[in-house]
Amino acid sequence: MALRTIRVIGDPILEKKAKEVKEVTLRTKELIRDMLETMYDANGVGLAAPQVGILKRIVVIDVSPEQNDPHVFINPVIEESTGEQEGYEGCLSVPGKSGWVKRPQYVRAKAYDEDMKPFEIEGTDLFARAMCHEFDHLEGKLYVGLAEDGLVDNEELYKDEEDAKEN
Ligand code: NI
Repeated sequence: MALRTIRVIGDPILEKKAKEVKEVTLRTKELIRDMLETMYDANGVGLAAPQVGILKRIVVIDVSPEQNDPHVFINPVIEESTGEQEGYEGCLSVPGKSGWVKRPQYVRAKAYDEDMKPFEIEGTDLFARAMCHEFDHLEGKLYVGLAEDGLVDNEELYKDEEDAKEN
């Protein structure tokens, strides 16, 4: 296991479309383990393979507070999405920033697991948001394109939240 370097905005690989995974090799499994380790180390809730420089359709997500509920998605496809949620969203490839982004409230997706067995999964709230965000990475899309009011510094955001609590 090893930590991988997370590519940041401006790196052209983040704007490229990732390729379908045809088979899961030992190297693929190593990549998935490294992606999970890298995501947890960076305190992220999701990571897509292009973010570590690999143009494959692989995503890992863990939105549990304890960070003990990893989900691995290979060749994911959103089959249904309904409703709407709005909120601040960030990305490990856009460090220190957040943007206000609308996403579906509910998402149903299909994908393949590490043994290339197909599965279906549903998610709401943060999990739905994370699936949309991470699957977008596989299309070479960053959330910054969806942030209608541009990006804010996280320091500024947290300061405002403290102000709000004080008021
Ligand atoms: Ni991201």
